[in-house]
Amino acid sequence: MLAREFGSLVPGNALKWKALRSDRGVWTFDVPDQMVEFAEQNGMRVKGHTLAWSKESSYPNWFLMLTRAEQLVAIRDHIQAVVGRYAGRITAWDVWNEAMANDGSGLLGGVSEDDIADAFRWAREADPDVVLLYNDYKIAGSGRKSDDVFAMLQRLVAIGAPVDGVGFQMHANLADAPPSATEIAANMARYEGLGLNVTISEMDVRIADLAGTTDERLEAQANYYRDVVGVCLAAPNCLGVTFWGFTDRYSWIDARHGAADPLLFDENLAATPAYFGVDRKSVV
Ligand code: G3I
Repeated sequence: MLAREFGSLVPGNALKWKALRSDRGVWTFDVPDQMVEFAEQNGMRVKGHTLAWSKESSYPNWFLMLTRAEQLVAIRDHIQAVVGRYAGRITAWDVWNEAMANDGSGLLGGVSEDDIADAFRWAREADPDVVLLYNDYKIAGSGRKSDDVFAMLQRLVAIGAPVDGVGFQMHANLADAPPSATEIAANMARYEGLGLNVTISEMDVRIADLAGTTDERLEAQANYYRDVVGVCLAAPNCLGVTFWGFTDRYSWIDARHGAADPLLFDENLAATPAYFGVDRKSVV
């Protein structure tokens, strides 16, 4: 199904620190190696997710025991090893993930913009051709966090950090006023003005809390998928859309937020109205 329906693949967890390096000094590349091979055999591109984070919970315990200076050295070594291993095979990387606070209080976890700039530089050194992205949530539309991330990327571009673009995660809840297509298009346009690309990097659409019949909810979901994919297709700087999973059977949403049907294929791998919403826009 993956090979038939999709042109690119993003390992959801297999390239995270906890998966690659649960014990200090031990690297576990079996699963991502298999995924990259699968993608190559099927003519799919691969994006890597993700080299550095600001959330402590995303790192293994041994990393959290290091001093701040040691952590930065470990991040440098990590980026050199992982980007270098897949150079020429992984075509884009989420370099830093979820660094910005939601409430306007700036960067999280004692991370500085210089740290983020360094991470981009190390990734560029390890693969001169790979597309380097900053990735975050609540930044696809308008609002404080979206502006804070834009301002940070403006400064990173100004100092010459090798940033190629930004990922809008796009975990949408239709009952909670997700960004409109107009807002997303305007945001993509301002990044284009900055010379940066954008991607929709982790799209899924929750409808469990939406009013209406099941059919009405599924139709609203299909329309939202259609509109967001349509915005990307129309934006000259939008590199593509990644869905955060392809079947509702394994979506992270059920574990975190309760049963929902956020993706393009249901629990039994049948295409849902959302699939046809995307298809209406994406068939070229
Ligand atoms: O594989 C183990 C399993 O052996 C164990 O029994 C089980 C018990 O908890 O855990 C399993 O690992 C879980 C893993 O997902 C695989 O299902 C982890 O606990 C769980 O924390 C992990 O959650 C992932 C989460 O990121 C944290 O890394 C989700 O699958 C993944 O979809 C989610 O993805 C994030 C993006 O990286 C960043 N943006 C937000 C997005 C959604 O939260």
